Amino acid sequence: MITTIITAIITAGMIDLHCHILAAVDDGPAAMEQSIAMARIAAADGITRIAATPHIKNTLHSPDIIRKGVARLNSALAELRIPVEIVPGGEVYAVLDPLLLDGYRLNNSRYILIEFPHTHLPRTAVSLLFQLAVRGFKPIIGHPERNPSIIRNPDLLLKLLSSNVLAQITAGSLTGDFGPQVMECACGLLEQGAVSFIATDAHSVQHRPPILSRGVNVAAEIIGREKALALVASNPEAVLAGKPVSA
Ligand SMILES: [Fe+2]
Repeated sequence: MITTIITAIITAGMIDLHCHILAAVDDGPAAMEQSIAMARIAAADGITRIAATPHIKNTLHSPDIIRKGVARLNSALAELRIPVEIVPGGEVYAVLDPLLLDGYRLNNSRYILIEFPHTHLPRTAVSLLFQLAVRGFKPIIGHPERNPSIIRNPDLLLKLLSSNVLAQITAGSLTGDFGPQVMECACGLLEQGAVSFIATDAHSVQHRPPILSRGVNVAAEIIGREKALALVASNPEAVLAGKPVSA
């Protein structure tokens, strides 16, 4: 059984769809050395691909800056033989005009990572997601288990989800890093089949480092190892390839 699990991870490679790994763009690492240190941690955990998802909120970082940052980091990782590939993306604030968002799609797919306000779920959430769908995006709601409105009433999230609107929870939420309420919400959403991805939302080597395996282990206890692995392997793989997510 253990051999099967290890083989599954090594064969597929884990993918982190939400990671603040680009240097000097947002509240992630300040310098390239720290980005590289984060990639080393990710590689040691079995992560082979990372979507760089800087906050697109108060500052609309140019997609070109993100693309160049990704290229620079990939060059540095290749030179150092760190087996992690970075792909472009963004963590986009939900209320932004969809017309501004084309350059922040995950690996140039139709999928886009969406951040709602940390304080509540806006009453306009359905309409915001609809506007994104109209523009051809497939929204992925980032860390809903950390949103106070959803913690109080997880049904609010369930009503938003569809084949075109998916949810990503944070690995650290499953291991209690955000407290018992967030952990309970994350585990409950998993049990209800509401979660399509587990990602790190890493910001540095100290603050929420890019480690998926601990969260996957907790998820495996709830939904089984195979389904838990899909949340960090085949599902994000489908996103990066621009294909439908099946599980
Ligand atoms: Fe984030």
